[in-house]
Amino acid sequence: MSVQHFLCLSDLSAPELMMIIDRAMTLKADLRANRTCNVMQGKVAVLVFEKNSTRTRISFESGIAQLGGHAVFMGPAESHLSRGESIGDTAQVISRMADLIIMRTSAHERIEEMANSALVPVINGLTDFNHPCQLLADLQTYIQYRGDITGTTVAWIGDGNNVCHSWMTAARILDFRLNIATPPGFRPNQALHDQCRPNVFITDDPFEAVKNAEVVITDTWASMGQENEWSERNNVFKPYCVDSKLMRRARKDALFMHCLPAYRGQEVTAEVIDGAQSVVFAEAENRLHAQKALMEFLLDIKLVPPPRR
Ligand code: CP
Ligand code: NVA
Repeated sequence: MSVQHFLCLSDLSAPELMMIIDRAMTLKADLRANRTCNVMQGKVAVLVFEKNSTRTRISFESGIAQLGGHAVFMGPAESHLSRGESIGDTAQVISRMADLIIMRTSAHERIEEMANSALVPVINGLTDFNHPCQLLADLQTYIQYRGDITGTTVAWIGDGNNVCHSWMTAARILDFRLNIATPPGFRPNQALHDQCRPNVFITDDPFEAVKNAEVVITDTWASMGQENEWSERNNVFKPYCVDSKLMRRARKDALFMHCLPAYRGQEVTAEVIDGAQSVVFAEAENRLHAQKALMEFLLDIKLVPPPRR
């Protein structure tokens, strides 16, 4: 029997994606009402992280604990991967001891290699190419605040990076328009853009991108691994700061989203990220709920309906 992994948003069909988001909403309400659900009891998930994390680590570890399971965390220097053990051997060993692998790494090929050798589901907790778990939470957040995203216009301002790539895939799957404004040398992956036409439009002009947008999104100008480019990027990206002037050119009451961590005064002003249109902390919280729903789906956990009385 083949194992279902989650390396890209396109590993899910549109109905599966919507089902997971719907379940995430239920899990969110359940948690708020103190209703517990131990569907991961006896199950172990291993987090293999080759990069730093705050939200992804905490949301997975908390979510696994809330579902009654156990998480084993291996940071960048803790496993034998950093001493040259192969990803294939690591995947086989974990598969004999645990039920799920969550991996954060640099080159996307590394997570593909993990998935190719793993006998348990592998979840992508971010690579240099994409960040599909972030999109589960971002879509949940949009739907929570505004309803159906199909047919709407979304603006991405700044770097054509991993999170931008996952937004592009989301635009194709759920059929909304994504306007991306980046400096010319920082555009997203061309092959992915070709796959996502006609949903994705790319421009140099942030004001053109936000026209009619129901949500304006940005991310750091220097992703993990690009720290030595920080000062060069700060200069190139200056015209792409999301400030109040840019927000006013989007639709009235457009949402502001950011996956975090954010750098106030660079990609976004404090006025915008801390202002009334910002939903960044709901977005961060939804990582927890969306990933719990994703884990249930990948572990093929059949939910027993609650008793009628
Ligand atoms: N948004 C996100 O993935 O945050 P972390 O890098 O803190 O996990
Ligand atoms: N683009 C950022 C996202 C962090 C969650 C990075 O890769 O560092």
